[in-house]
Amino acid sequence: MAEAAVIFVLERVADVLAEIHFPKDVRPEIQRLRDELKRMQCFLKDADAKQESDLQVRNWVSDVRNLAYDAEDLIDTHILKIESFKYKKRNFLYRYASTLKARTKIGKDLAAIRTRISDIAISHEAYGIRSIGDGTSHAIANERLLKLRRTTPRGQDKDIVGLEEDIATLVARLVLEDQWRAISIVGMGGIGKTTCAKEVYNHGDVQTFFDCRAWVYVSQQFRTRDILQSIIKQVATRTKDMTKLLEEELEEMLYKLLQGRRYLVVLDDIWSTTAFDSLAKAFPSDGSGNKLLLTTRNNNVALHADAQSLPHELRFRSQEDSWKLLCRKAFTESIDRVCPPQLEEIGQEIVVKCSGLPLAIIVVGGDAFKEKMAE
Ligand SMILES: Nc1ncnc2c1ncn2[C@@H]1O[C@H](COP(=O)(O)OP(=O)(O)O)[C@@H](O)[C@H]1O
Ligand SMILES: [Mg+2]
Repeated sequence: MAEAAVIFVLERVADVLAEIHFPKDVRPEIQRLRDELKRMQCFLKDADAKQESDLQVRNWVSDVRNLAYDAEDLIDTHILKIESFKYKKRNFLYRYASTLKARTKIGKDLAAIRTRISDIAISHEAYGIRSIGDGTSHAIANERLLKLRRTTPRGQDKDIVGLEEDIATLVARLVLEDQWRAISIVGMGGIGKTTCAKEVYNHGDVQTFFDCRAWVYVSQQFRTRDILQSIIKQVATRTKDMTKLLEEELEEMLYKLLQGRRYLVVLDDIWSTTAFDSLAKAFPSDGSGNKLLLTTRNNNVALHADAQSLPHELRFRSQEDSWKLLCRKAFTESIDRVCPPQLEEIGQEIVVKCSGLPLAIIVVGGDAFKEKMAE
């Protein structure tokens, strides 16, 4: 049952592929890709039963799971572009969506995923299951994705709509609770977890309350060493060359640096309980007021990190906020950022379509409107 979520994601990937209007020459390849995804789904259902006993099957399942989540990320990112294909009757949106530019971008990202799917399929010989190698093409694609998504707490967004209550609640939890806590912001990709965490991290009360703060982007492809080093650099006044240190030594170094100081460390986009466990030992859990702030899509990670701390679930934006966000992102040229009356109707339609997901509103709505304004 553990893989039900992965099966769901694979289904979604297959559906989305079916919706995109690919150029004729790549269509057979896309069809093969969809067939491959279907086979993976069938195999996953079986694998679930076998997993406990067979390490190789377990590794394979883990490869597919990572792939599925990356594919989901890709779809999250392109959700607006894909959504806009549904507006075929609307002339300008259709033209926008079917421009070569949009297709090329989706195509390029898909290519990375496609390579990995065939890597996985080949390396396991139609799921005959041999040992899992870390294919290099796969590693390069990962590296690129990681760079694209890496976050820092700087560059605050001036166009934020409606997170005031979430921010106030989280700031209060960080500065008012005396005990060590791992507080998590949870929700699907693109809903605004990182945005919210940034606001909290930079809030005046938070800056005053903690002696030291650090922000790290964890992601799926994290390396424990890199994360520990990054935190050390942020909390130490001077650092030596750390390249020769063992992971355990880095862990101890960080532990000592944090001991006796009131610290806040943000672990942005953490995916698994294993990832949390690989870092947890470096954080002293005594002392007054020390906190970890996590952002994650996975509620289990939140509860695993701290079972006593209620995960803070982000909600979808209201219609009103969605509209505000669309106008702020789309009409950057006009001083008052007001929607011209002739675009009101289509704008409202976009807002409904995006179901309150900020990432979708920005990518689909913002771009589509800008295109229209430029005409
Ligand atoms: N409340 C909001 N107001 C304005 N923009 C937002 C809001 N929430 C998210 N965004 C924007 O949506 C995109 C995705 O948000 P992000 O915080 O990265 O989501 P997550 O971390 O949950 O995947 C970003 O471009 C961000 O600036
Ligand atoms: Mg994020």
